[in-house]
Amino acid sequence: MTPILSMRSIIKYYPVAGGQVAAVNDVSFDVMPGEILGIVGESGSGKTTLSRIAARLIDHSDGRIWFDGHDITHQTGRRFARSPLRRQLQMVFQDPLASLNPRFRAAEAIGDPVRRLGTDDERRNRTALVTQAAVHAGLPERLLSSYPHQLSGGQRARVDIARAIVLKPKLILLDEPTSALDASLQAHVIRTLLDLRRDLGCTFIFVSHDLNLVRLISDRLLVMHQGKVVEQGIAQEVFENPQADYTRKLIAAIPQLGRSLTA
Ligand SMILES: Nc1ncnc2c1ncn2[C@@H]1O[C@H](COP(=O)(O)OP(=O)(O)OP(=O)(O)O)[C@@H](O)[C@H]1O
Ligand SMILES: [Mg+2]
Repeated sequence: MTPILSMRSIIKYYPVAGGQVAAVNDVSFDVMPGEILGIVGESGSGKTTLSRIAARLIDHSDGRIWFDGHDITHQTGRRFARSPLRRQLQMVFQDPLASLNPRFRAAEAIGDPVRRLGTDDERRNRTALVTQAAVHAGLPERLLSSYPHQLSGGQRARVDIARAIVLKPKLILLDEPTSALDASLQAHVIRTLLDLRRDLGCTFIFVSHDLNLVRLISDRLLVMHQGKVVEQGIAQEVFENPQADYTRKLIAAIPQLGRSLTA
């Protein structure tokens, strides 16, 4: 089976006073069709940088990237944005209030990828596609005419998810999609994502610093620390038998799990 996404030896330097720092430092991984890959690590470990490189929103400093069997290493953000592959990859951002245009009603936000990347047929059917995506994402239809500031955090997260799924992409990258939500809403959004995988067969990369959450949703896990992958493997195996010291520390820091490990 061909991976949906392969990243090899990815490096990203950011300039800092007096030199540069590697926010992502020699990271390699594959994502297979239909799987949910969780990326965990503490704040500043490079998760957002890595996801933005995968979505070609920022350029990497070194390394190679394949998406759906195509080498996109040299497709800069601008070129990728115009490529036919672009519609197959969507991203849900860390902060939906910042990523949603305040002047777009929910329906316009959700329909935006259709307008920009859809076929003629899809554009003609935009209203139907928007409604379908909203229903899939659990956003009540009556809220489609609301502006972002008129919606709750959970509703905004759903607008963002509906926008990401409206063109039924092959890969959806979610960067802390639930970090602003309370526990019950988080659980709701997680269920929505699992339903979407079942119904649409999407592949997900789910980025979070919340190990408990990642454990619920991921098939495989990538543990990042200071820009490096310190461990990757089947999620359950990583949780039951962590190999890296850093992973052990992360797991021990989860209240319930920490207790059961030391019991
Ligand atoms: N545009 C930038 N310029 C310079 N340094 C940056 C830039 N963006 C990120 N960094 C640095 O790169 C490192 C990784 O940041 P990144 O946002 O990828 O971490 P993260 O794992 O997503 O953290 P969080 O869990 O807080 O979202 C951090 O040290 C950060 O300060
Ligand atoms: Mg981040």
